[in-house]
Amino acid sequence: MKLEQYQSAVESSNIISKTDINGIITFVNEEFCAISGYKHEELIGQNHNIVRHPDVAASVFRELWQTILQKKTYKSTVKNRAKDGSTFYVNTTVFPILDEKGEIEEFIAIRYDVTQSVLLSEALIAKDKELEYLNATLEYRVNEQTKALLELNATLEDRVREEVEKNREKDRFLFQQSRLASMGEMIANIAHQWRQPLSELNITLYKMNKLFHKHGDERDVHFEESYLHAKKIITKMSDTIEDFRSFFSPDRQSEPFKLSRVASEAVDIMQGTLERNEINVVIDIKNDAMVEGYFNEFSQVLINLINNSMDAFSTKNIKNRLIYIEIDTTVARDAIMKLSDNAGGIDASIMHRIFEPYFTTKHASAGTGLGLYMSEMIIKNSMKGSIVAQSNAFGVCFTLTMPIAKEET
Ligand SMILES: Nc1ncnc2c1ncn2[C@@H]1O[C@H](COP(=O)(O)OP(=O)(O)OP(=O)(O)O)[C@@H](O)[C@H]1O
Ligand SMILES: [Mg+2]
Repeated sequence: MKLEQYQSAVESSNIISKTDINGIITFVNEEFCAISGYKHEELIGQNHNIVRHPDVAASVFRELWQTILQKKTYKSTVKNRAKDGSTFYVNTTVFPILDEKGEIEEFIAIRYDVTQSVLLSEALIAKDKELEYLNATLEYRVNEQTKALLELNATLEDRVREEVEKNREKDRFLFQQSRLASMGEMIANIAHQWRQPLSELNITLYKMNKLFHKHGDERDVHFEESYLHAKKIITKMSDTIEDFRSFFSPDRQSEPFKLSRVASEAVDIMQGTLERNEINVVIDIKNDAMVEGYFNEFSQVLINLINNSMDAFSTKNIKNRLIYIEIDTTVARDAIMKLSDNAGGIDASIMHRIFEPYFTTKHASAGTGLGLYMSEMIIKNSMKGSIVAQSNAFGVCFTLTMPIAKEET
């Protein structure tokens, strides 16, 4: 009676199985079925190795059998496989049960589930390994970081300098832009102020002409000529004002335009000064081309170049002053404008510096040294092109190259 109570106490708290001497299952309890996932009837009559896990080496089973066949108790933690393929770990004790003669009758195995604690300790071991690895590589990683930091430090100064320079360039550009904008405003005001008196002058002239004809029926040729001439001058004056107004207009808009148009308009605007300085300008159109960009800024570049030539003509006191502007295209679909003069050229020793901001050979009151710098910025940024200078004892040639928007035949 007492024995039965012991038996049921053990059976309900542990995972129990019995096998015959050959390892064939003769008994399993509910707990065994639950953990292995097999039904009672699937287990009875099967070899106990039905729950064997393929990871477990054959030598382990050899040792088990050696132990229990010597009628000794075997104890170990075993990795098993359930019906669904999942793994479970059990702390196992196998007892050989002997008959009256002392021969082995059967084996009874009592186990309890240790899966959770095995998994935990496996995770711990993995973490330990990871830590070991991290420790081992720590020095190396610190060294790498230090190297990167040192490099960063070394280039930091350069990068700061670069950024500062970039900012300065932006400032200069903005300054130039705002100067142009305020100039534009001023010119627009002047244009507005002049338009009224000009049209009054026109009306006065018209009245004078009428009055004159009232008195004498004979048409005076000289009077007629003077009248037409005066009218022409007034037209020219209002055209000029309009030109200036649109040239300095602060509305910045990228548009396609012909190289020939920008050249002739820039020369037109400079016409008065060019004549006063007795400079002859030739525009030679080999192949015209449409380019895309900012018309006003491009003319600003031409005016800069013409002003530079003009300055050189007067400092070197050149006779027969000539500015030659050639417009052409290349097979590589580039539009080319070459502007050359016969003003004696640029000294080879300063040639590499002329595009630098604030580089000037002129007296502070005559030049800021920003002309060519701004010109290069405009050609690069607004026209997506390039500007190069060549020089010899005869004069300078600036070559402006930019992509063609459309060819003009
Ligand atoms: N056509 C030229 N002939 C001779 N020297 C030139 C010519 N164009 C430029 N230079 C030289 O290049 C320098 C730089 O020109 P840049 O237009 O940048 O400045 P600048 O004319 O001196 O001053 P800014 O144009 O700002 O009033 C000039 O000071 C001059 O020495
Ligand atoms: Mg200049």
